[in-house]
Amino acid sequence: VYHTPEEIPNNRLPGCAVVIDVLRASSTIAAAINAGASAVQVFSDIEPLLEASETVEEDKRIRAGERGGRKVKACEFGNSPLAFTPENTEGRRLFLSTTNGTRCSESVRNASKVIMASLTNRQAVVNSLATKRPGTVWLVGSGWEGSYSLEDTVCAGAIIDGILAVGKTPLSKLAGNDEAIAAVSLFRQWQDQLLELLTSASHGQRLLKMRGKADVAYCSQLDVLDTLPIQKGLGIFVQRKPG
Ligand code: MLT
Repeated sequence: VYHTPEEIPNNRLPGCAVVIDVLRASSTIAAAINAGASAVQVFSDIEPLLEASETVEEDKRIRAGERGGRKVKACEFGNSPLAFTPENTEGRRLFLSTTNGTRCSESVRNASKVIMASLTNRQAVVNSLATKRPGTVWLVGSGWEGSYSLEDTVCAGAIIDGILAVGKTPLSKLAGNDEAIAAVSLFRQWQDQLLELLTSASHGQRLLKMRGKADVAYCSQLDVLDTLPIQKGLGIFVQRKPG
């Protein structure tokens, strides 16, 4: 478990990277894919997003940008997962740039496999990791501008807890992996009160001050989407095909 992309040594992850930004980028990506987006293409910066989006016809794209929790003017949408419905999303490519989540995806994009995880699609992520066994798995929290995020760690813990449950593996098997044990312990302590935990987190507090209560509530739901956004081409996420 890495709590921020800055912790990754030499910016290199040999194996499978799981990107986590519960509030809200990875929850938004899962929601958009679930609403039928043909793909989600992520960008660290807005300018390249706008340039790339120009290559796609207007009725085949949506542009979403967020900085500091607020919508970016140049884009039609901000980063609320609730904004993406089949009516406005189905069959379109989402071009997305956010403060931390899309930057985190960029920093792991050379891993052999990259998956987008949130609380909402946790079980889909667990099922994939448990059945495909992609070798070493790195759970990477996006954090907030280089610092720790409680909600990303609890999601990492939820994923590890799910994998342990599939193999009926005791927590003691994680001996020596302090970050993983701490993440699972956090999840086990809070699993029935995820909304309370997210509401107490610093970014949860920030969003509440920006009328983000419904987003925090949405993002705190566990296992509600059977969606697995997986990287296919650098920075481009699509729904993994079943099987
Ligand atoms: C981020 O990338 O930092 C976020 O997803 C922030 C947000 O939109 O809440």
